[in-house]
Amino acid sequence: MGVIDKNEPLTPGESIKGEFPFFAKNENISYLDSAATTQKPTAVIESLCDSMRFFNANVHRGAYHLSALASERYLEARKEIAEYIGARSSDNLIFVRGATEGINAIARGYEHLLNPGDVILLSLLEHHSNIVPWQMLASKRGVVIKFVGITGNGSLDVDDFKAKINQFSPKIVSITQLANSIGTVTPIKDLVDISRAAGACVVVDGSQGVVHLGVDVEQLGCDFYVFSGHKMYGPTGIGVLYGRRERLEQLEPLQGGGDMISFVTVDGFGLADIPQRFEAGTPAFHEAIALGAAVRFLRKFPEQIVKKHEAELLQKGWDMLSAEDGVRLYGPGPGGGRQAGAISFEIDGVHPHDFATIADSVNVQVRAGNHCAMPTLHALGVTATVRASFGLYSTEDDLKQLVMAIRKARKMFA
Ligand code: ALA
Repeated sequence: MGVIDKNEPLTPGESIKGEFPFFAKNENISYLDSAATTQKPTAVIESLCDSMRFFNANVHRGAYHLSALASERYLEARKEIAEYIGARSSDNLIFVRGATEGINAIARGYEHLLNPGDVILLSLLEHHSNIVPWQMLASKRGVVIKFVGITGNGSLDVDDFKAKINQFSPKIVSITQLANSIGTVTPIKDLVDISRAAGACVVVDGSQGVVHLGVDVEQLGCDFYVFSGHKMYGPTGIGVLYGRRERLEQLEPLQGGGDMISFVTVDGFGLADIPQRFEAGTPAFHEAIALGAAVRFLRKFPEQIVKKHEAELLQKGWDMLSAEDGVRLYGPGPGGGRQAGAISFEIDGVHPHDFATIADSVNVQVRAGNHCAMPTLHALGVTATVRASFGLYSTEDDLKQLVMAIRKARKMFA
């Protein structure tokens, strides 16, 4: 430990495990569930603890030094994260609890601009947090939801996307950058360009994309971009909703309360400026500050080295699993940047849940089930898969342990 305090670049793989206390306690664990949540580096844990230990005063409220300091640190975290995602101004960045709250805030905040019959376009690659908030909105406002299909290998069907844009002129397009269930990378820049040219408001779900693919929101040109802190080495309970200024101005706040107002009388209230108007109540400022630390940690990894590490892991994992008898893989596959971060598969004769339990007995953690993406799995003709997903600390050895677990499970169920 301690590397994090130096300004040296960090390298993904075995050597980085020392930065994660989790691995010091669990040396023989092959944690392959980073798409669900990543392990936390010392830098983030210390930041969170220090904030609570030494800088605890409510932000934006107290006229005393400690409160001003806490507010400053909160503001600094907002700036660091904004810079990390390429936002022009940190005012465009709203702290939310996670991607789910971010999408709910957009769906609810946009409600007053929608009329019965308006179309919202999603894709069959979305996880439930990018489906259900829109379905709730649809049942309330009579708007209609359409889904872009996927091809046989789980890629987004771009022809279908274009056809549905032309046919329905959606008011909102909300699409993932990287599918959590099967690791499909979508051609997000093209999708954003096409949608905006057609006049739609474009929401990008960056829950997986922000950490595996990176983003420059200005370059991408989306209207909204959401992600969760805990999937990018930060704490739970904190996430980001980025919005273009003109879109944020249209959005109604999800919650009312302290800090989001400019005045309150017995007759009503005035809205505070953006972003405060979207952050009612005491924000999760310790967690936001620790998310800032996560961003600083991530910045220590040279981008090309991370991309190479991830691409190699995916290729090796895909090759190793493909070589196993009775294993069926889902997803576009490695090469060409079509897939990232995760491999989804089935094992003949072994239910994914049984496999996850057997794998756990030999220290391999994977997610099993529908991955909160039932429509994706339904479109692929399965009800559950096993998903192995990677983080900066994942190694080829973890993949070998996974293969051993598969062999063990196959033997047990033979
Ligand atoms: N969306 C998270 C996952 O993919 C929970 O596992």
